[in-house]
Amino acid sequence: MSTESQIHKTDRPTFKILKWIGAGGFGNVFKVLRNDKIVACKQIETDNLDFALDEHRHMTLVRGGPHIAAVHDGIEWNAKTKTLSFFMDYYKGKDLNRQVEMLRATGERFTEFQIIDIAYQIAVALEHCHGRNLLHQDMKPMNILLSEAWDPTTQGAVPHLFLADFGIASHVQTIGTRLTGRRGTPGYEAPVKKTLFPHFPRNHVLIFSTRKSVPPSLPSPRNQTYTL
Ligand SMILES: Nc1ncnc2c1ncn2[C@@H]1O[C@H](COP(=O)(O)OP(=O)(O)O)[C@@H](O)[C@H]1O
Ligand SMILES: [Mg+2]
Repeated sequence: MSTESQIHKTDRPTFKILKWIGAGGFGNVFKVLRNDKIVACKQIETDNLDFALDEHRHMTLVRGGPHIAAVHDGIEWNAKTKTLSFFMDYYKGKDLNRQVEMLRATGERFTEFQIIDIAYQIAVALEHCHGRNLLHQDMKPMNILLSEAWDPTTQGAVPHLFLADFGIASHVQTIGTRLTGRRGTPGYEAPVKKTLFPHFPRNHVLIFSTRKSVPPSLPSPRNQTYTL
């Protein structure tokens, strides 16, 4: 079913907001009750409905893939408030940035095993996206969701991770397309892009870093960064 055919125009939401769970550059995310189920609802206020629908289109393209946040059918558009709402599985562990901040505050680090597991899960998700010609382009801990609450200092095993926030992803539909526009979040670009090879292709991504700003030189062991 195409994204367009799923739009329900209404100024009466069919869901009940339970609590606000997050926000980023593009929208607010709420825990809601919809058709008797707890789900996450992303709301985007916009003048450009077609542009806002892109995220749902992208998530539909990779739906069912391993470690990809699951988008649901059905979209609501409130023309009065110019708000688009769409729905996803609710991941109760929130996003991976919480763990990064937790470790930073205590001066601890992910274990090597945890780093490998996190990188593996994300790589599997990205492989699925790239197999469908979709470039995520906003890789960072805030956009990686956890199935369960997780304290990495006491729980060795990493929970299931899910890649989310396809708001600025690009669906590359023509062979040889060059992506030249600036994408992503400052501070999460691959260090090689900024320093060693400033003209490196823009879709070279930094998967994650345990600190926000990437050191200007090669990373020390304390601040390892991992690129794909
Ligand atoms: N399906 C979800 N389940 C639980 N929390 C979510 C879900 N989707 C998003 N969040 C939370 O909301 C935040 C913002 O969502 P995101 O899709 O990244 O929006 P933005 O495009 O505004 O950055 C995320 O960083 C995460 O903390
Ligand atoms: Mg985000």
